[in-house]
Amino acid sequence: MKEKTHCTRRNFVGTLGLATGGLCLLPLAVSCKSDTPSKSINAGKKMTEDFDADVDIQLQAIQTKTNILPDSTSDTYSYKASQIKGTNDTLAKIEGSTLGPIIRVNKGDKVRIRFQNEIPEESIIHWHGLHVSHENDGHPEYVIDSGETYFYEFEVLNRAGTYWFHPHPHRKTGEQVYKGLAGLFIVSDEEEGALNLPTGDYDIPIVIQDRTFDENGKLIYLPNGRMNQMRGFLGDEILINGKTNKTLSLNKDGKYRLRLLNGSNSRAYKLAWDTGEPLTIFGVDGGLLDSPKTLPYLILGPAQRVDLWLDLSNRSENEQLKLIHLPIPLDNIMGGMMGGGMMGSPSDTALPYNSQFDILNIAVGSSRNNEASLPNSLSSSSALNLADAINRANPRTFNFGMEKMMEWTINGRTYDGFEVAEDEIVKLNTTEIWRINNGGNINRESQNSGGGMMGMHGNGGMMGNNQGMGNMMQMPHPVHIHQLQFNIVSRNSENVNPNLWENVKDGFIDEGWQDSVYLLPGMYMDLIMRFEDFKGLFLYHCHNLEHEDMGMMRNFKIV
Ligand code: C2O
Ligand code: CU
Ligand code: CU
Repeated sequence: MKEKTHCTRRNFVGTLGLATGGLCLLPLAVSCKSDTPSKSINAGKKMTEDFDADVDIQLQAIQTKTNILPDSTSDTYSYKASQIKGTNDTLAKIEGSTLGPIIRVNKGDKVRIRFQNEIPEESIIHWHGLHVSHENDGHPEYVIDSGETYFYEFEVLNRAGTYWFHPHPHRKTGEQVYKGLAGLFIVSDEEEGALNLPTGDYDIPIVIQDRTFDENGKLIYLPNGRMNQMRGFLGDEILINGKTNKTLSLNKDGKYRLRLLNGSNSRAYKLAWDTGEPLTIFGVDGGLLDSPKTLPYLILGPAQRVDLWLDLSNRSENEQLKLIHLPIPLDNIMGGMMGGGMMGSPSDTALPYNSQFDILNIAVGSSRNNEASLPNSLSSSSALNLADAINRANPRTFNFGMEKMMEWTINGRTYDGFEVAEDEIVKLNTTEIWRINNGGNINRESQNSGGGMMGMHGNGGMMGNNQGMGNMMQMPHPVHIHQLQFNIVSRNSENVNPNLWENVKDGFIDEGWQDSVYLLPGMYMDLIMRFEDFKGLFLYHCHNLEHEDMGMMRNFKIV
């Protein structure tokens, strides 16, 4: 079903000498100025023989059957990995789970992934959070059919942190992730290695997802169809690392690094310890914070990662500790039209946002001490400088909302292949501020996305003042930008429902390097980012995977 609109020009993306699968390598000086990808469906189709990989992995997407609930078998998908080159800890399996593998690499490694698609539909893999070239980013236009192979070849440029990978075929991402396709991509580096953080069995990945099962115990996706898709999938049960067993047996006196990923399609969590003790967070999407941060609770939106510190020194044997979700009054925000009425359904069994439920149980076992510690100074990864932004006075604004009837849009537009609009083009080696807005910055007529876009889409009459449909249909949008890590400049909550804001306001981390943020209705945020190393097309989108699949996704182009 690939729509193949062919460009006649062949173009090359500047690659700073990094090999790119299948494309010729030209010295930068002679690489062509234009960087619109030719719809060269050849990208990634061939292996570059002289790419000298440190890590070489064959990754197959396959159909599987999994007993997620003990007595019934669900139809699932899974990535199956085998190592061609690497070290002892390059690959780790999660036994009994559809999820995985966990891939561990070092900064500076040259990585080749031979992605072989063996599921009966097209797919492509995206490396979420990684700073890679266009060809290696898993653009939906590069989907491969069942039976085909795509070669990723890139150098790991990111700092140490918890990144991840998942499918990215347009309109099918939500379902393929739901069926089990996702894994962690953990990067280590010297800065982090010099710290005495927990390693090995004390460094524990925790992927949180919600799922729904039918009366026979089989996994089902969007049972109520289109209406639930507008809202995004919400499940009635929490899985940890793909399993219903949510208990972790840990050692008294152990010091742990819990790497949390919210791998849910659309659900956010308000995480807290059931004891009321604060959470100690020391890392986010793009790696370590400069210093640890304590929060009474944490709002973890889809695709976000955090490093959570857990020291069991002062616990007793056989003690139980729980990570729980605390109620958030979000059901009604998405309500009115969204929840109860138009979009909901009486048969909806999803866990309500506004209720408390368990995420993870920690069973404290017998004592075993490890010599790890959490220093106060973790990293010195200086943030980008506001003064360096070329558009500080006039941030590039992206409005996430509904400006077409029953379609989630960004600046009134939806995804359209390689199409990129004028206000989505940025320059290599510049720093910019992006204002991502979910109905919060209501003076937007003056912004760069203004009325023109409305006219263009012919919706001017009905929704010309942006206060019509857009505001009635507000929902949180977890916004993600490909290819880079940004810093948060500011989070504006003036127009967030005061009850909601009061409930969540102490749960955000605005420090560090991030690639995904949770944008509440009425909120806008200014993000500062730098476009470096790679020209080409990259995606930015809502990481509510149902919204993304409906087209709440666009390209930006680095020229
Ligand atoms: Cu994790 Cu484009 O997404
Ligand atoms: Cu991404
Ligand atoms: Cu969304």
